[in-house]
Amino acid sequence: MRHLIDITDLSVEEVNELIATAEDIMDHPEKYAQACRGRQLATLFFEPSTRTRLSFESAMLALGGTTLGFSDANSSSTSKGETVGDTIHTVSCYADIIAMRHPKEGAPFAASLRSEAPIINAGDGGHNHPTQTLTDLVTIHREKGRLNNFTIGFCGDLKFGRTVHSLVNALSRYDNIRYVLISPEELKLPRYVKETSLKSKGIDYTQTTDLESVMPELDVLYMTRVQKERFFNEEDYLRLKDSYILSLEKLASAKSDLTIMHPLPRVNEIPVAVDDDPRACYWKQVKNGKFARMALILKLLNIKV
Ligand code: CP
Repeated sequence: MRHLIDITDLSVEEVNELIATAEDIMDHPEKYAQACRGRQLATLFFEPSTRTRLSFESAMLALGGTTLGFSDANSSSTSKGETVGDTIHTVSCYADIIAMRHPKEGAPFAASLRSEAPIINAGDGGHNHPTQTLTDLVTIHREKGRLNNFTIGFCGDLKFGRTVHSLVNALSRYDNIRYVLISPEELKLPRYVKETSLKSKGIDYTQTTDLESVMPELDVLYMTRVQKERFFNEEDYLRLKDSYILSLEKLASAKSDLTIMHPLPRVNEIPVAVDDDPRACYWKQVKNGKFARMALILKLLNIKV
């Protein structure tokens, strides 16, 4: 039984296969329409979500399977004091595969030790979000035609942004990628991510607080929201929340084939006016997320089509 807790639970070859499968599903959805008939996916969301939970559910339905679960932990027996381990053990008696989001870092790993079904980490606190990373890799591959030889800027809350941590880790296994880390001093990429994903592999990176000065260098710009829910005091959040707002004026100096990404939800860091710019790819990301998760469900259930 395989779980997906961290993106490196999959080899680079397996990630590349998942991207190819996701792209094949986009082109030939009918081939996959009954692949999970009789199988059940549980979505257990102890923390709010729109895209991840609904794309997982949409993915399983598009594979001919069914879904169960909860989107609010207060509606589960967790509210009576049941441990996450007991909850997961219980649900794994009913479901064939479980996608789980939890505010505590490491909770999906702890759950995997008690589960009789594969566990997918659908986001754990400010730690990791490996299925967003699969979505992001599919998007970069489709937009650039490759997963090497480009410069990517990560902008915003790099401290708490779990999608950033997972994507930096994933991309560090591909060749010749330059990393430009754009954030306020207080929201820099955590040292442990820089050590394990970049420094230990001899990968060079630049850190700056100034988005506009690096804009012309970028092939991919990965914007993120300042994560209000992870701050210890509101004063710090209010001071930092408007650090980066990507206006059309700021994009004037960007490359004509820049790929603008954002895992969403956004707050105000990308105005709606930018959505019409042909370089904006975040709504494509939303669509790609369903296909990436379809490919992942098939893999973890060991279903060949
Ligand atoms: N990208 C992402 O994880 O979105 P949700 O929080 O809406 O699931």
